[in-house]
Amino acid sequence: MEIHVVETALGRLKAAAVVLFAAQGESLRKRASACGQGYREALETLESSKSFSGEAGQVRTLTGGGKERIARVVLVGLGKRAKLTHEGLRHAAGAGVRAARELGAREVALAMPEGKGAFYRAETLAESLTEGSVVGLYRFENYKRKSAEDVIERISVLAAPAQAKAARRGLKEGRVLGEAVCFARQLGNEPGNVATPTFLATEAARIAEAHGLGLQVLEEDDMRALGMGSLLGVSQGSSEPAKLIILTYEPPARGKKRPETVAIVGKGLTFDTGGISIKPAAKLEDMKFDMCGGAAVLGAMQAVAGLQIGVRVVGLVPASENMPDAAAYKPGDILRAMNGTTIEIRNTDAEGRLILADALAYATSKLKPKPKAIVDLATLTGACVVALGDGHAGLVSNTDGLAAELLAASAESGDAIWRLPLTDTYRAQLESPYADLSNLGSPGAGTLTAAAFLENFTGDVPWAHLDIAGMAWTAKKSGNFLVGATGFGVRVIARWLQSRG
Ligand code: BES
Ligand code: MN
Ligand code: ZN
Repeated sequence: MEIHVVETALGRLKAAAVVLFAAQGESLRKRASACGQGYREALETLESSKSFSGEAGQVRTLTGGGKERIARVVLVGLGKRAKLTHEGLRHAAGAGVRAARELGAREVALAMPEGKGAFYRAETLAESLTEGSVVGLYRFENYKRKSAEDVIERISVLAAPAQAKAARRGLKEGRVLGEAVCFARQLGNEPGNVATPTFLATEAARIAEAHGLGLQVLEEDDMRALGMGSLLGVSQGSSEPAKLIILTYEPPARGKKRPETVAIVGKGLTFDTGGISIKPAAKLEDMKFDMCGGAAVLGAMQAVAGLQIGVRVVGLVPASENMPDAAAYKPGDILRAMNGTTIEIRNTDAEGRLILADALAYATSKLKPKPKAIVDLATLTGACVVALGDGHAGLVSNTDGLAAELLAASAESGDAIWRLPLTDTYRAQLESPYADLSNLGSPGAGTLTAAAFLENFTGDVPWAHLDIAGMAWTAKKSGNFLVGATGFGVRVIARWLQSRG
């Protein structure tokens, strides 16, 4: 798909479809008239019948009567102007381009909403319109006999000549973020028999090649040599070999100053049966999404390369299956993680923390230079879905400054997160009579005891954890997100990394 900034005014544009945005109560008369005489009349009819109010999510299409320069006009409501957010605009853009696609248009132009203030800067508007369009047009069709025939081939974002340069910058950023989100969704939607640890490593190699990232994949033998008994313990019941994927982004040189290094770690559990502590059958198919933290890390690495941010980023994805098997790890087993910590297994379904433990220990002890911050993303606990539903991911951190940075990046990016507490109350619940730690807390606050467990593997590096269990996929279509993986985490992480560089 081509995406461009086009400097032609609405009054002279030729297009298969144009998307116009209107806030509640705002008149579209001037802009509709600029699209052609037929639209002026169509809009008057629409206004007198009160069938378009500008409510958020409302979409109406107008036909210009066959002889206009612009074949179709799509109107999209933005809701109350005072409440408009960039995330709202991204969803509105997605709704607009999807409507154009349904009308059979192959090309669509988007007119920027007009207004005063920082919100309406051409750069940010173009960013939101582009990102929203790319995310909103995504479909997963790898396994359908026939792929859809309605395809948008070209998107034009309309900008006044004075704004075109800024709009081009925003467009590029929106495109990079949107494509990275779709890449993560694509990985997430792949079924468990395809998206194995080996597949994730191959995909990592593909993006490393395409975007100039460094790549190292630790095999099980390498992990054994490093003492990664925690990750290997989870994997031992699976016939798919585990991988620890390590991607490195080097920023372009900027003077003499050495850039800081930060690490991001994503749970890449390619199918979670629960293991010997097996899960019930209902919704078990959703556990193919248990690698979405890993997918978010791969997507974020693609994004930082595209954005050419100023910090050095190492992305780590511990990838494994969790299977019941004669060779599988069992409740009562004691595993030894790479940092020497022994772990009593109380429940083999609390496996995410175990594969993350070795990846976090590796990131804090082996990377040179040592990272200044580590953030992990994981579909870690059902308890987080109980606490926050599909409204926010849970943020748990032992460093207030880092938590604040992530919350700021969250607000800008559209990936919603909410901070939860980490105190000694939760840390104390991981005591084991037999080992240094238990992999299970007392009943209650499962998200927080899981986070407290991870903290043991982060050394003295400022660390934050995002529990994305409620956000990584959706069972119902919602705005730009279809049923399936959402790519959650890519945008907040990319924005956070951008804010540090
Ligand atoms: N992958 C699951 C968490 C999960 C469950 C994510 C449902 C999304 C939806 C994780 O490995 C898990 O099984 N967690 C257990 C932990 C428990 C055994 C302490 C859980 O949440 O039940
Ligand atoms: Mn599990
Ligand atoms: Zn899991």
